[in-house]
Amino acid sequence: MNTFTTVDAVNEYRNALSGQVGCVPTMGAIHEGHVALVEQALMENDHVVVTLFVNPKQFNDPADLAGYPRRDVEDIDLLNQTGVSAVFMPTVEVMYAPDDSYLVNESCESLDRCGSARPGHFSGVLTVVMKLLNIIKPHRAYFGEKDYQQLELIRGMVTAFFMPVEVVGVPTMRAPDGLALSSRNALLGSSERALAPRLFQYLNSDDSDYLVKDQLEKAGFTVDYVQTHKNRRYGAVFLGQGSRQVRLIDNVRLTP
Ligand code: PAF
Repeated sequence: MNTFTTVDAVNEYRNALSGQVGCVPTMGAIHEGHVALVEQALMENDHVVVTLFVNPKQFNDPADLAGYPRRDVEDIDLLNQTGVSAVFMPTVEVMYAPDDSYLVNESCESLDRCGSARPGHFSGVLTVVMKLLNIIKPHRAYFGEKDYQQLELIRGMVTAFFMPVEVVGVPTMRAPDGLALSSRNALLGSSERALAPRLFQYLNSDDSDYLVKDQLEKAGFTVDYVQTHKNRRYGAVFLGQGSRQVRLIDNVRLTP
């Protein structure tokens, strides 16, 4: 497996590849959910490039960025065992030149749910995803459905900017108790981890968004939002106290 940190090096490698190329953009702390994306990408392409980059522009809270799990050595080791062709892990300086003043903005679907709770978050996501896809130039790019709002916005960006890439959504991987796999789960204490699966359980209920929010709060979550949008119920909650708060998100498709 090749590892690249500069755009020139990964470009040279990419330009020499023939056949179909898949890309799995990640922020690292690789877990089984990422491995599911990688496995699907490996089935559908001749080469797979995984990107590992904790993108500062999508964090509106510096403490959240500082606390985000980073496990580069373990990630490379794990990815090496999956059969991916290459890992691109640039520094912040490589992705954002000091005078870089460009941002990709979406002005409708990015403003509610995670967008209202985390102003600027989706501009940061869309900007980095456009950069990564322009660098890797994959035929297909893979994103998890756990971040469904993100997935829809990336699809929209690719359509709006005529980007020559197919966006593939991969179903959410869950622990046996229903908790959606996420890099942030590593930050949960044992009592928080025990409570966390209730987010999925309550989102799945037939009750109204208002009642689900109430049930989550009574169970011990601090609720950011519970919102139904286009036949899908989205939720974001916090577990833990103060600087140890961990934000979890999930979504479920509602039966019509
Ligand atoms: O879902 C993520 O891990 C990130 O938002 C992404 C798509 C890699 C962009 O930084």
